[in-house]
Amino acid sequence: MTQPPPWLQEPVLSPRLVLRPGRDAEADRAAAVELLTDPKVREFIGGPLSVEDAREAVSGPAGQRWGSFVLELRRGSDGVEGSVVGVCSLSRERGELEIGYMLLPRYWGRGLAGEAVATVLAWVAEHLDDVQVIAVTQAANTASLRLLARLGFVERERFVEFDADQVLLMSPVVSAALHLAACPSRAPGPSQ
Ligand SMILES: CC(C)(COP(=O)(O)OP(=O)(O)OC[C@H]1O[C@@H](n2cnc3c(N)ncnc32)[C@H](O)[C@@H]1OP(=O)(O)O)[C@@H](O)C(=O)NCCC(=O)NCCS
Repeated sequence: MTQPPPWLQEPVLSPRLVLRPGRDAEADRAAAVELLTDPKVREFIGGPLSVEDAREAVSGPAGQRWGSFVLELRRGSDGVEGSVVGVCSLSRERGELEIGYMLLPRYWGRGLAGEAVATVLAWVAEHLDDVQVIAVTQAANTASLRLLARLGFVERERFVEFDADQVLLMSPVVSAALHLAACPSRAPGPSQ
């Protein structure tokens, strides 16, 4: 049976990352299961899943998931080239374009999530008609709020969801290129 093409035709490059569609490969599945079962990653996004539930959640055809960017280290980054560090995702579940992101804890604190979000916003500016993007994060998720503030997101509203205070922030898409320039690299630059 012929497979339909993945939703993202070309990988997207940032200084330290390759952003690509998911692959039906063990490396992608293992990283996804690790993300979904890690208590630190899931602290503000619903708590860790069991391994069984996580495996079930990632069992579909990865390359077809619209909006899903797998984040992989580029050559010359501080780490092993090709390592999956996390995911960034676009969705329209709230009726507006929304960005989400999660990285494996061993890659936190290097500015990689900010770099990924800025790169996805630049991709949105080039490929979609949306003029703004939202992000929703728990009010207690300081790292996520700082990341969004650094990229120019501003708070629009607060509400309670999943028994927790949530902040909805928004940013115009047009300033996406500036977002990337505002991302400090805290690791050696790539040689690629
Ligand atoms: C949120 C997350 C993606 C940040 O990843 P990261 O690569 O470390 O992010 P960055 O380095 O680009 O930026 C994080 C910012 O938060 C700050 N930060 C990190 N941990 C923090 C903490 N515990 N308390 C306060 N600030 C913190 C960093 O200093 C940085 O701010 P700065 O640029 O002003 O110095 C990562 O922590 C994660 O995957 N968390 C779990 C999933 C999640 O909560 N996703 C958000 C919901 S959509």
